[in-house]
Amino acid sequence: MGVSVCLASGKGGVGKSTIAANLGVALSKMGINTVLVDGDLEGASLGLLLGVDPGSPSIHDCLAGKMSCREALVEAYGTKVMVGSINIERLVDISLDRFPKVLAELTGMFDILLLDAPAGLGSDAITLMSSCHSLILVLTPDINSVTNTLKTLAVAKKVGVAVLGAIVSRTGGEYDIPSDQIEELMKVKIIAEMPEEELVKRSLNEAVPIYVGYPASTYSAQIKVVAKKLIGV
Ligand SMILES: Nc1ncnc2c1ncn2[C@@H]1O[C@H](COP(=O)(O)OP(=O)(O)OP(=O)(O)O)[C@@H](O)[C@H]1O
Ligand SMILES: [Mg+2]
Repeated sequence: MGVSVCLASGKGGVGKSTIAANLGVALSKMGINTVLVDGDLEGASLGLLLGVDPGSPSIHDCLAGKMSCREALVEAYGTKVMVGSINIERLVDISLDRFPKVLAELTGMFDILLLDAPAGLGSDAITLMSSCHSLILVLTPDINSVTNTLKTLAVAKKVGVAVLGAIVSRTGGEYDIPSDQIEELMKVKIIAEMPEEELVKRSLNEAVPIYVGYPASTYSAQIKVVAKKLIGV
């Protein structure tokens, strides 16, 4: 039985999916049997980040009961991934009730399951968060993001998921709230700071994760820091 880690955020666009995709690749390269799962059914993006063929099997097929978990897995850059479909028609006929079972089954097959959750506190986000063993919060260093992350944190505590820490994302701006202040405000350990880097956007255009395409970047070095913390190195 592996562990499931949910990457969650109070706000959208903070860099969760980018972190999830690269973390999955990094953990796999370190020899950890890892599976990435796209939990953002309406805004699926792991497939785009990892250059997966849009016609590939997806979590939507699995939630619609058309495929088993094993059949819906694809491989990308050495990691296993259950992408979300970007086809709007696939949103019909899916059952969210199946999600906890899918996550439990996959957790049994891998050492680490990384779940890219939808932003905010909609019912699907809460269901997914509650179905994982642990949670990493992703936020940007501004008051809007901190305020909304405090709500996510409160819900996480209520549903009893273990909070491993927070990643401050898209850092390096003149008006950033410093990480030690964020730590103090939220009473949560900051695991890493992911810098705002143009190479992240270039990597999305190239459909190659930055950890693979630009391993010497500061972003990739920080991904390695998070991966090592996750496996306790
Ligand atoms: N560190 C970074 N430096 C530069 N651009 C970044 C960085 N992190 C993310 N981005 C860009 O910001 C956008 C949002 O990133 P991403 O999709 O990873 O966020 P998200 O939190 O998953 O968003 P959503 O909540 O909408 O799913 C993307 O265009 C991505 O390339
Ligand atoms: Mg996302």
